[in-house]
Amino acid sequence: MGEPLRDGLKVQSQSAILVAVIDGGRKIPREDVLTELHGLVKTAGVDVVGELVQYRHEVHPGTCLGSGKVEELCDLIHATGATLVIFDNNLTPAQGRSLESETKCVIVDRSELILDIFATHARTAESRLQVELAQLQYTRTRLKRMWTHLERIDGGIGTARGPGEKQIETDRRLIDQRISELKRNLSEVERRRERIVSQRQDHGLVSLVGYTNAGKSTLMRALTGADVYVADQLFATLETRTRKWSIPNWGDALLSDTVGFVRDLPHQLVASFKSTLEEARHADVLLHVVDVSHPEAELQVDTVEQVLAEIGVEIRKYILVLNKIDKVQDRQLVDTLRARYSHSVTISAQSGLGLDQLGQLVADQLGDGFINVQVTGSVSDGRLYAFLAEHAETTSTDYSQENEVKFDIRLPRAYLHRLKQLALNVVWSDSQPVLTQAAQEHEPGWTA
Ligand code: GTP
Repeated sequence: MGEPLRDGLKVQSQSAILVAVIDGGRKIPREDVLTELHGLVKTAGVDVVGELVQYRHEVHPGTCLGSGKVEELCDLIHATGATLVIFDNNLTPAQGRSLESETKCVIVDRSELILDIFATHARTAESRLQVELAQLQYTRTRLKRMWTHLERIDGGIGTARGPGEKQIETDRRLIDQRISELKRNLSEVERRRERIVSQRQDHGLVSLVGYTNAGKSTLMRALTGADVYVADQLFATLETRTRKWSIPNWGDALLSDTVGFVRDLPHQLVASFKSTLEEARHADVLLHVVDVSHPEAELQVDTVEQVLAEIGVEIRKYILVLNKIDKVQDRQLVDTLRARYSHSVTISAQSGLGLDQLGQLVADQLGDGFINVQVTGSVSDGRLYAFLAEHAETTSTDYSQENEVKFDIRLPRAYLHRLKQLALNVVWSDSQPVLTQAAQEHEPGWTA
């Protein structure tokens, strides 16, 4: 087997051995260890030719796998003709280098694999910029490993400054330039997106988040009728899509589907996808979709919550949506998750089961955002009357002051800034009690 060449590495169509090291006494059954990695490599288009799993108290600092297992890996590579070894773990640059030099095979870790999948699936200009930035940041710390083969040829291992080393400096400078350029472009895109998202605040904003493959796109399609891509593939969705959702007895809200999360998402990726997740940050209600038929559903819930915390999503109104109930075999898991969350609902996005309850829960949560307002305006201001007729519920009207009219109203908070522009004076307080479903049914014209 030749020297590992990593330049422009694409994992697609390569034959690979999958490796996982389970540390810290984690008790994951052998048959479940590589399930997710299989899903990831399937999405990446890799052909799997072998597997190796090791349980260790802690990962080996030098090579992740213990030395006996590294030998076993070399034998397996030899026997299968694999061109790639994919680790479920994240490797330090030094571990990657050592493994490549011992196995003479290209080693890809979990982060690199996920970055590769994102690069292949990125469709919009924005997500391409985000993925390129994340990839360059990942690559920058690993340049040495990527030029090891050149050093061997030109300077020999241990030579102070072979041409490989000079090449590393040049590459690092180029990478830094490109990183600055990408960051500038992305911050412009981010500003634009923030403007768009904040303009949408007039509507109820509902955002779907969840582990990859949980069924977010299927749910989006079921709720909005939107023709979104649904696939039994990890990361089928990389871009945020927003569609109108007409919630029964409430009105029109905007529903956004966001990128799926996975365990150990490369942090470069989380950082650069922040703007894609802007919708989640501004959401009035967050729907966290869980594949409750998955044996590791609880771990997936924790992962999503960790990523949300990392990107600074403040969870105010949160509903846990337990999806794929039609496939569930372990009811206990459903009960455990329901007990953990005060707002949860079981659904099947595929069959439509539970979608009415979901709509009702969301309407109740959105209804929470109504406020009581005292508005003073000019008696002849037709625009103010029209605005109130369309958006507010007027509970009393007072014409006792000359040329002025005072209204007591209930209004979705999102309309407050527009009301302030129209009225002479506006005083408000948080609405108590919460507008109930029943109250809305008596006021059918009263929508946000
Ligand atoms: P990413 O784009 O990877 O984030 O995935 P996603 O969360 O958008 O999942 P998607 O809607 O693409 O669904 C993933 C797979 O689960 C598809 O094969 C769906 O048909 C299937 N699925 C979604 N909802 C249900 C459900 O309620 N029941 C069953 N049995 N399958 C479902």
